[in-house]
Amino acid sequence: MHTVVNDIARRFTQVRQPGTGRTPEQVSQVHEAIDLDRPLDDVAAALEELHDVYLNDAVWFHDPKYLAHLNCPVVIPAVAAEAFNAAINTSVDTWDQSAGATHIEQRVIDWTCGRIGYDSRSDGVFTSGGTQSNLQALFLAREEAQRRWGMARIGDFRIFTSELSHFSLVKAARILGLGADAVVAVSSDERQRMDPTALKECLVEATDEGKIPMAVIATAGTTDFGSIDPLYEVAELAEAYAGHFHVDAAYGCGLLVSPQRRHSIGGIERADSVTVDFHKSFFQPVSSSALLVKEGRQLGHVTYYADYLNPESSAEPNLVDKSLQTTRRFDALKLWLTLRTMGADAIGRLFDDVCDLADEVWTRVEAHPTLETVTPASELSTLVFRVPGDDETQRRVRRELAADGSGAVAATTYQGKQVLKLTLLNPLTRVDDVMGVLDRLVTNVYQGPR
Ligand SMILES: Cc1ncc(COP(=O)(O)O)c(C=O)c1O
Repeated sequence: MHTVVNDIARRFTQVRQPGTGRTPEQVSQVHEAIDLDRPLDDVAAALEELHDVYLNDAVWFHDPKYLAHLNCPVVIPAVAAEAFNAAINTSVDTWDQSAGATHIEQRVIDWTCGRIGYDSRSDGVFTSGGTQSNLQALFLAREEAQRRWGMARIGDFRIFTSELSHFSLVKAARILGLGADAVVAVSSDERQRMDPTALKECLVEATDEGKIPMAVIATAGTTDFGSIDPLYEVAELAEAYAGHFHVDAAYGCGLLVSPQRRHSIGGIERADSVTVDFHKSFFQPVSSSALLVKEGRQLGHVTYYADYLNPESSAEPNLVDKSLQTTRRFDALKLWLTLRTMGADAIGRLFDDVCDLADEVWTRVEAHPTLETVTPASELSTLVFRVPGDDETQRRVRRELAADGSGAVAATTYQGKQVLKLTLLNPLTRVDDVMGVLDRLVTNVYQGPR
């Protein structure tokens, strides 16, 4: 353990860029040569080998020039908690396997419910990520709808969400046996927020056609644009037309602790369920996510009593009763130790810092002689832009930046056009770091294909 801690600490001071830019073919050569049936002589040799198979080509999210996906650098108390987790190997499925850990998770869940604005009827559970939280939320919504309308109507169940919401919702609908057209994509406005007028039209049309609005889902922080759907207006429509209102705050959940921006997610307390990804905007290591529900009793839809594990007669608090998983990581310890050392405001300030940075970068890109902003400034910490040239030029300059490993940006499409994207989640990144990467992209435009 000491060797690893020293090694990783040294690495972190030595890293100068987010990656090496080597290709899958180049990286995989070393793996293919290794015979997993023939162990090395000692741990030191295995750790040495790890440099070749993993560390040398790792992608470093703490490097200030990593500007690509929704990955955050992590706070140290949470890393320390991971050491306890790995060594003690607690599983928070039943109390008899976890004891204090169960109560820690429950307190962190209750704390999060309080931050949302839920009352004492609320509850929740840690999950592996936003994808699982969204799946469980839709499962609860489907179960409630089935109770009311009967299983025979499942083909008529509809879910309404913005065209910019996360793909995990469509996946969840498929897993839950809903039809291919069960998810209705509602159009968004010029600020990439779900358009409430369009939502109302979709709800009315579906209802008129005899369909059943099973759920309305708002996104608090779209993956590509960091936009936040108008939660009060969506809540109003959800309450009038649909069985369930879910808010996917996988990205925007950091605002729950933001000293400056908490108001941006006002209305979240009206949701029947909320997805939060602490591993996005609370600077926690993967995995750390939760689903919170306004009516705790709804979590009972996933309860299954197994005689060997959590018999119905058990008087102990068994978190497995609320979870899709059985054996489950004690991820709550990371946030617990973070809250007990840094405190919630400090986390919120870090998230505010990256949102401020995104604002500043947007202003610089807007004023830039060659770069072009594509959408208004984000409410969170993303920014989409274009370099001069056609769609292929956007793809090429990104590829070439990735190939030398000196910076990392992401890409997506907007209104059918290829765009480049920055997701800023490193509070230590400075505006000059970002502009340096953007300058390299511009240089790549004018140098032409390599
Ligand atoms: C808005 C949103 N919801 C859900 C997810 C899925 O979260 P996870 O990757 O933790 O499964 C993401 C991931 O980027 C997201 O941006």
